Amino acid sequence: MTDSISFDRAAPYYDCTRAFPDDVMERLIPMLTRELPPGERCLEIGVGTGRIALPLMREGIRIVGVDIAAEMLRRLIDKAGGSGPPAAIADATRLPFADGTFGSAIAAHVLHLIPGWRTAIDEVTRVVRPGGVLVASRGASTRTEWQHQVRRRFFAEAGDPPWPPGINRIEELDDGMRARGAAVHELPELDREDLASINDLLAALEGGIWSACWALDEATRQRAATATREWAGRELGDLDQPRPTLYSSVWRAYWLP
Ligand SMILES: C[S@@+](CC[C@H](N)C(=O)[O-])C[C@H]1O[C@@H](n2cnc3c(N)ncnc32)[C@H](O)[C@@H]1O
Repeated sequence: MTDSISFDRAAPYYDCTRAFPDDVMERLIPMLTRELPPGERCLEIGVGTGRIALPLMREGIRIVGVDIAAEMLRRLIDKAGGSGPPAAIADATRLPFADGTFGSAIAAHVLHLIPGWRTAIDEVTRVVRPGGVLVASRGASTRTEWQHQVRRRFFAEAGDPPWPPGINRIEELDDGMRARGAAVHELPELDREDLASINDLLAALEGGIWSACWALDEATRQRAATATREWAGRELGDLDQPRPTLYSSVWRAYWLP
């Protein structure tokens, strides 16, 4: 049993709600490829449906993936059609690999889901050889004020469920990795701009597509969305007007001693 957040429930819709736009992928994949020692195996913890693993494999990176969600791995295998990475159902806090098996590891949008994230980074630093690298991102953060305001209001109306169970800010991981003797390298931030309306954002929150909403039952989400719509109509104006959105994806490379 694990107390991490499994994405089994999100497997059917993960790829259509979480895909990075092409222009972000065109910057992200070369940026990650440059950090990963060539020719050596790279472990992705929380590999999911292979959003990052499959494009990296096309660049020649020898990915091995683990995840606690069998349904996410099933999607990965189906999508890869026989050319996917070796993948196993395994918890990042108990990795089934010998010390120093990998030249590198990736933790993309996963450590916020793991209450025992410190144990997970102990495990990653155990299975990556000395001098290897962990490349990690906490996840995309919202950068426009209206998105912040609407999200904050929605979760306040829903009773502010505790979130996230794992790391909240990438700086917590920086500190954890420094304490393990790693050198911290900030990678260029990847921004994604788009347009969305308040109703678009509230529909996603009400529909429970993000893991931050999974502690809320459907009735609570509906009540919070209705109350937030009323508030936003008064305070922010037209709920259907397209407004600029900005998501920033922050990445680090941690070089092990
Ligand atoms: C937000 S998805 C990210 C998937 C992939 N890294 C990507 O960027 O698309 C997080 C994944 O981590 C998995 N996960 C959560 N806790 C985990 C753990 N303790 N060990 C391994 N995988 C875990 C979830 O099941 C899910 O598939």
